[in-house]
Amino acid sequence: MKVWICALVAGLALSAGSVLASAALTPQQIVDDRVAGMKALGGNLKGARTATDAAGAKAELAKAIAFTETMQSRFPKGTGIGDAGVAKSRALQDIWTKPDQFKSAIEALSSALKAADAAAGDQAKFDAAFGALGKSCKGCHDQFRGPEAP
Ligand code: HEC
Repeated sequence: MKVWICALVAGLALSAGSVLASAALTPQQIVDDRVAGMKALGGNLKGARTATDAAGAKAELAKAIAFTETMQSRFPKGTGIGDAGVAKSRALQDIWTKPDQFKSAIEALSSALKAADAAAGDQAKFDAAFGALGKSCKGCHDQFRGPEAP
């Protein structure tokens, strides 16, 4: 029995090790991962917009809010246009030279999402909140996203 438990513990330690190893992503993998996340964010917003009731909209917005909370960490220095190991990205270096503005742009998205969440169920307010939401995406893209990658 003891041997079995030891083997189990060793197995767990090993799998924890491999999880850590896989967390060490290359710069391009970090880019690809955040682009996929950003596309999913767009999908969540579409889902919220087309949801048939407030609960459905809120469920989609909750996913978008959770992603937004991870956004800062998805842009580590060294993962933008021109950085070593980055073959394809639209992330401008301004993200790292103007960190305060970038942080504010994330906060603007976060508060726009929360406003949409609070407005769910009231169509007029929800529509207005979505207008503001779109502006928060565009605001950051205009400032920090470069031209379409080839
Ligand atoms: C704080 C800044 C910021 C905010 C806010 C933001 N984005 Fe982005 N987004 C970026 C950057 C920078 C990239 C490019 C990432 C890369 O290529 O490395 C990007 C990429 C994308 C992409 C991938 C496709 C492409 O053109 O590169 C999509 C889709 C996207 N964003 C959608 C959205 C939507 C929808 C919102 C609002 C709900 C949003 N983004 C809000 C900064 C932001």
